Amino acid sequence: MNPLAVIDKFYPADDELRRLLLVHSWHVADMALRCEARHPELGLDRSLLLRGALLHDIGIVGTNAPRIHCYGDMPYLMHGFIGARMLRTLGLETEARFCERHTGTGLSRQVISESILPIESRDYFPESMEEKLVCYADKFYSKSRPNEVKTFEQACNSLMRFGEDGVRKFCEWNGLFN
Ligand SMILES: [Fe+2]
Repeated sequence: MNPLAVIDKFYPADDELRRLLLVHSWHVADMALRCEARHPELGLDRSLLLRGALLHDIGIVGTNAPRIHCYGDMPYLMHGFIGARMLRTLGLETEARFCERHTGTGLSRQVISESILPIESRDYFPESMEEKLVCYADKFYSKSRPNEVKTFEQACNSLMRFGEDGVRKFCEWNGLFN
């Protein structure tokens, strides 16, 4: 399925939320595809990268984050799991994995139980190289400042709240994809 048709289905109105989702998702897609182009030796699937990047944040609509035009009732940390559920209703299992494995550098069992999120408490880390690259590219963009690109240092700083492990993983990916 065309990822833009999926966005149309869940975000039918041309409003601020849909525009923000599109701007952010295209930034992430653009960065992921530029990384892929620099690293043909990794043998990444460009079509999968594009679908994963365009759909990774599809679940934000279900969260309570008014500063980015989201008026749902779930905590923002749930957006990946909400998105995964939405995509699974369409049978998009491969794309659903990008949703539930991209927050921070992937949410650990510990973060999930400490945050008391209403999902099974286990590790949700990106596994395929495409999942890792979309997660990596996403860390350079914030939806609250959609037109700014973070430096590597700023991206590292924003990962501090998920613990040292997240920063270490991000540095490792930087060596692979940058
Ligand atoms: Fe994102």
